[in-house]
Amino acid sequence: MILPSKEIVDQAYVKDYEKLYKEVQEDPEAFWENIAHELSWFKPWDKVLEWNFPYARWFVGAQCNIVNNALDRHQKTATKDKLAYIWVGQDKSERKYTYGELNEQVCKFANVLKSLGIRKGDKVSIYLPRIPEQFIAMLACAKIGAVHSVVFSGFSSEALKNRILDAQAKLVITANAYPYKDKVLESKKTVDEAIKDIPTIEHVIVVKRIESEGKGKETSIGNEVGQSNNSNNLTSSPNRPPNPNLMTAVRDLWYHELMAKTDTICSTEIMEATDPLFILYTSGSTGKPKGVLHAHGGYMVGIYLTLKWIFNLQPDDIWFCTADAGWVTGHSYIVYSPLINGATTFVYEGTPDYPHPGIWWELIQKYKISKFYTAPTAVRAMMRLGDEIPNKYDLSSLKILGSVGEPINPEAWMWYYKTIGKERCPIMDTWWQTETGMQMITPLPSSPLKPGSANKPFFGVEADVVDDKGSPAAVNTQGFLVIKKPWPAMLRTIYGDHERYKQQYWSTFPGIYWTGDEARRDEDGYFWIMGRADDVIKVSGHRLGSSEIESALVSHPFVAESAVVGIPHELKGQGVVAFVTLVSGQAPSETLKDELKKHVVTQIGALARPEQIRFAKQLPKTRSGKIMRRLLRQIASEGKITGDTTTLEDISVVAALSQDEE
Ligand code: WT7
Repeated sequence: MILPSKEIVDQAYVKDYEKLYKEVQEDPEAFWENIAHELSWFKPWDKVLEWNFPYARWFVGAQCNIVNNALDRHQKTATKDKLAYIWVGQDKSERKYTYGELNEQVCKFANVLKSLGIRKGDKVSIYLPRIPEQFIAMLACAKIGAVHSVVFSGFSSEALKNRILDAQAKLVITANAYPYKDKVLESKKTVDEAIKDIPTIEHVIVVKRIESEGKGKETSIGNEVGQSNNSNNLTSSPNRPPNPNLMTAVRDLWYHELMAKTDTICSTEIMEATDPLFILYTSGSTGKPKGVLHAHGGYMVGIYLTLKWIFNLQPDDIWFCTADAGWVTGHSYIVYSPLINGATTFVYEGTPDYPHPGIWWELIQKYKISKFYTAPTAVRAMMRLGDEIPNKYDLSSLKILGSVGEPINPEAWMWYYKTIGKERCPIMDTWWQTETGMQMITPLPSSPLKPGSANKPFFGVEADVVDDKGSPAAVNTQGFLVIKKPWPAMLRTIYGDHERYKQQYWSTFPGIYWTGDEARRDEDGYFWIMGRADDVIKVSGHRLGSSEIESALVSHPFVAESAVVGIPHELKGQGVVAFVTLVSGQAPSETLKDELKKHVVTQIGALARPEQIRFAKQLPKTRSGKIMRRLLRQIASEGKITGDTTTLEDISVVAALSQDEE
């Protein structure tokens, strides 16, 4: 157990977690109501929570807009001149926005969207790299009541297409191309491919991130730790002139041209607290990705408080969250919560290893970052490179560190604590999900820490570990992580599929929210998250569904059937292993392995690239025809099967023995 220093406790918003937690549990609604009073509303609520199982509506009857809290209200205070973002490009160029300047950009872009016919309730897909326009686009949508669906720029055209179709987006916002290490990735071309058969897309707005689309060198793409790049449309010839055919007349419009012609005044749409704010796609255990839907009111209250208290946000902090706004971490803790809190957020466009593996530490030194939030996969990658790199930099500005996305192993935790935090900075290992919207199980700066444990539930969050019947699991016994009461940033539903929402989250343990994770609770009530209990694979903290990768493989003409499992991976947490059976007439080969890996990359994105493809004559199945994944996982991680032509016949014996196991 690592105890907090007196200095940290003295500065902390919350000094006695146990006492406050108990108090709040007696009346969580009163607690959230008090917090909600710290924010601005156009009209107060009639009711804090309407819980109509399994739908929670928070701040019913209230009118608000998250942008009113993120930007508008700061225009009347000194925060107007404070920096909202310090953005540093891969080439170290800087762009800074005060709250006043950011607001102006958002107002202008909101007017652009309106002039193109975007109205309250319309869906807009955002496929942008990590540049300020990504945040401006999100905020402009929210301001006018449009619903944004941000798609991570590492997803392929096929994945983008599916997300645009499911969200029924009318407009797409992208960049012409963007730098990615020493390459240039052409996101506009990816969009063109994605929408070629989607006639409902009226316009594509294109941000000119670089002057010429064709400057990149031809390089093969690796799968980066903590980052995933796009496989599509890598430029092939160096110093190619700008593509004259990039823009399709009428449909495609340059962002800078639209912005030059528009007004800086725009009113913020009055929304019901329960109105949708965004859709964000995430992988589940079965089927296609789910559109997780979040609303304005409850979400804004939940994310506002969590960042403030968990990272003890202070006016002079420089906050650096290394995520991308293509994931929920970026939505909640790069865009909305830091702005609501009036904080200064630092953003680095590049990857943690480019132009050199000490870049993050260099940036922390230069910009005096005080609060730093990253993923275990990045910590492990840095740890492997050794202490010399971070030791070259002055990291004394750091006060609190954070971790998110997957369990952080105690070894990586200790390295992070000692080498980066110099044993001064507590680590906030925050457990949460796209669906929860906000951090849920976490230490606070004043908490005694156990390396590797996500600590205890945040206020108002009733988390528990249960057995397969839904009864509380015994101390130190592995069970299933559930949440027993609604919380403010809880998802409203799965967009367009209420049935799936019910099935996925509320049916495994009747009446309670099932997270999909396995966990245990120790004798001190600390939660230890063990990982997913379903077929979700976490590669570098990114969530992938086995079934999505399986469909991608089966869409290749040579593949008859496939089963995908996750196996432990030293850096990425988990790696993807695909078992594949071929259609008759096709023979296994190394070339085919490579081709199938590439095929997955084009279907989903580089983040889904399998570590291994294993050919099999058949897949082990139960009598009812279900693939025996547990068995495959075991085989894959034990490495029992090697070589191209390994049949699974040797394991069919095992399979027969354990036929009804899964
Ligand atoms: C899943 C949610 C939350 C933002 C990024 C991921 C795993 C997340 C932790 C943590 C152990 C964690 C869980 C969860 N996870 N944070 N601190 N310790 N596991 O969001 O893509 O929706 O994934 O990530 O398995 O269910 P997501």
